[in-house]
Amino acid sequence: MAMQGNVVLITGGGSGMGRLAAQRWAKAGKQVAILDINEAGLQETAEGFNTIHPFVVDITDFQSVKKSVEEAEAKLGPIDRLYNCAAIMPLGKLLEFSPERTQQMMNINYNGLVNVTHAVLPGMIARGKGDFISFASMAGWVPMLLTGAYSASKFAVACYTETLFHENINSGVRFACVCPPAVATPLLKQGKETAWPKMLQEGDDPIAPEEVIDAIEKSIDKNEFWVFPNSAARWGNRVRRMFPGALWKHVHKVEGW
Ligand SMILES: NC(=O)c1ccc[n+]([C@@H]2O[C@H](COP(=O)([O-])OP(=O)(O)OC[C@H]3O[C@@H](n4cnc5c(N)ncnc54)[C@H](O)[C@@H]3O)[C@@H](O)[C@H]2O)c1
Repeated sequence: MAMQGNVVLITGGGSGMGRLAAQRWAKAGKQVAILDINEAGLQETAEGFNTIHPFVVDITDFQSVKKSVEEAEAKLGPIDRLYNCAAIMPLGKLLEFSPERTQQMMNINYNGLVNVTHAVLPGMIARGKGDFISFASMAGWVPMLLTGAYSASKFAVACYTETLFHENINSGVRFACVCPPAVATPLLKQGKETAWPKMLQEGDDPIAPEEVIDAIEKSIDKNEFWVFPNSAARWGNRVRRMFPGALWKHVHKVEGW
């Protein structure tokens, strides 16, 4: 596998793809720090692994993020790989979301990434190595009805990570931005409990989290920045860039409004 070094830090390690990545790297003999707001989820991820180290942290709080990164590095050594997984995904019409709810999503999904970046990336750059992985989404390329607030936060994640990559292109740090379609993790429940677009209902089944984690490895091996884990994700991105009007027409037709 493509990872060099011994220490991994994962936000959102208490569930879904963050949990999968944490347990995989622990099985491969790496030291893994997991940060999450969900203490029970962290404990479940770490159960049975003495190389997974949980930190209860809200990534919107920069001082807490900084403190836990410093503690993790003092205990485990410098971070060689970072997975920015933590996020939330309630869905609904933009004007039916309170401003606070839309802003909370941006605060966790985007500002949280900014906090973690400032706590981790300068060290990687100073050492001239490391892997920096952001989770955007296909929703960070393709807007739809009912997903606007989540999509806006993921467009921001994609733009921020792409710019970080280019601003640090000769730093020795490898960057990847992951843009999956729907993935079978607990995140989907948040969407389904709020508003679920027909585009997702009638689209392909969610892919397995393993497919995404494997796709990251392949992309990093090939020095590819964008990680589109399957052909649907690659197509979504192309159609959006080449035929945005036709895509919106299709979305309205499927949703029926
Ligand atoms: N599941 C999908 O369909 C899908 C598709 C595309 C992209 N993604 C992205 O992949 C990443 C991983 O998603 P997942 O499906 O594994 O989600 P998940 O819901 O299983 O896990 C997300 C974790 O983030 C944590 N979290 C939420 N707010 C936090 C905060 N303020 N501080 C710290 N931790 C916090 C949650 O407690 C949870 O454990 C996310 O960035 C998500 O947006 C997911």
